Amino acid sequence: MRCILFVALLVALSVAATDAIGVNHLPEASLNLNERFFDEVRELIKRRIESKQLPMAASDALALQNQRSYENVPIPAASVPVPVLVENWPTDQHSFGQVTAVSVDPEGNPVIFHRADRYWDVNTFNESNIYYLIEYGPIKEKTIYVLDPKTGAIKSGWGSDMFYMPHGMAIDAHGNYWITDVAMHQAFKFKPFDSKPLLVIGKRFRPGSSIKHLCKPTSIAVATTGEFFIADGYCNSRILKFNAAGKLLRSIPQPPEFLSLQVPHAITLLEHLDLLCIADRENMRVVCPKAGLKSSHGEGQPAATIQEPDLGRVFGVSAYGDLVFAVNGPTSMLPVRGFTIDPRSEAIIGHWGEFKNPHSIAVSVNGSALYVTETGTNHQTNRVWKYVLA
Ligand SMILES: *[C@@H]1O[C@H](CO)[C@@H](O)[C@H](O)[C@H]1NC(C)=O
Ligand SMILES: *[C@@H]1O[C@H](CO)[C@@H](O)[C@H](O)[C@H]1NC(C)=O
Repeated sequence: MRCILFVALLVALSVAATDAIGVNHLPEASLNLNERFFDEVRELIKRRIESKQLPMAASDALALQNQRSYENVPIPAASVPVPVLVENWPTDQHSFGQVTAVSVDPEGNPVIFHRADRYWDVNTFNESNIYYLIEYGPIKEKTIYVLDPKTGAIKSGWGSDMFYMPHGMAIDAHGNYWITDVAMHQAFKFKPFDSKPLLVIGKRFRPGSSIKHLCKPTSIAVATTGEFFIADGYCNSRILKFNAAGKLLRSIPQPPEFLSLQVPHAITLLEHLDLLCIADRENMRVVCPKAGLKSSHGEGQPAATIQEPDLGRVFGVSAYGDLVFAVNGPTSMLPVRGFTIDPRSEAIIGHWGEFKNPHSIAVSVNGSALYVTETGTNHQTNRVWKYVLA
């Protein structure tokens, strides 16, 4: 029985592969189906090989099926908000460096994290991921600015002489700042305007893949329970989950689980669904494993995967209730824009916006505004966009 199932899968795989060769003749819908099917079969086989169970158990196939059909209920169109661009915001232009991250504080102020005069290029790291420019010291300018939601004007700033190559920033419900620096290979928790962190994860300037090291960590998501997740990141392509005190609870994936991530670039929590949605950038998908905040059942297992041909490389994700807003980045010929995603039906249910190099996205706490930041090449292209959710 097991053998037959596996042979059937192999046959299916070759059929899917044949179809994939002739993709140009297929309508978009079936292309999408075939690619997803192909991916599923490939993942199953890879998992079977990795766990060295021969042949694949029927329970694996069943488990996969269960993972896929996560409350397959689409959200009614009328309840899906549409992001509408706020023209002439900010009213006065900023002179930020690359705006690598945006978050919104509990008062509803958008807050940006930027690189000032630093650019991440071929001279930034050597082949062992060691940062080349430590002797230049940290960025002297303020790297964090709190903006006025109405005008976009700078209200206050901090974060000078602290960071080397800013990447991710999240502000939790208590107003704590959670930050990643790819050069330092560390993640931090700060009280705002404090230069001493409350919590440090990773070893300063020392990349690694042990549970004590990070390597170019990208993003942090904090649950209302205080548990937090670090996307680690460019080299390790894993997620680490910690309790509120900073004790490591698990990694995602955790062997022998199979979830192949390729540059998890941003993460966001959908607490009601108990999902952690990941911008799995180089896999060109958003994948949402169970976060395990409410129940450990199925924790770490992908419960939803959104992978459609127009999605491209996904740079930013931000939860809005049970939905996810996402931005992609330059990918071949695909338009660079915003997406509204429904993880329950595993579908893209809206497109909006037009960008060049978007890097981060955040929805305000009361859900009235959405911000997107870009990492450009000058003060005009390093910028923040505001959208209202109508
Ligand atoms: C949401 O927060 C913003 C910024 O604080 C405020 O201006 C707006 O009135 C709030 N909207 C709602 C619906 O509460
Ligand atoms: C990167 O730099 C570190 C520190 O200078 C050095 O130990 C390491 O060998 C370098 N790696 C490569 C591949 O050059």
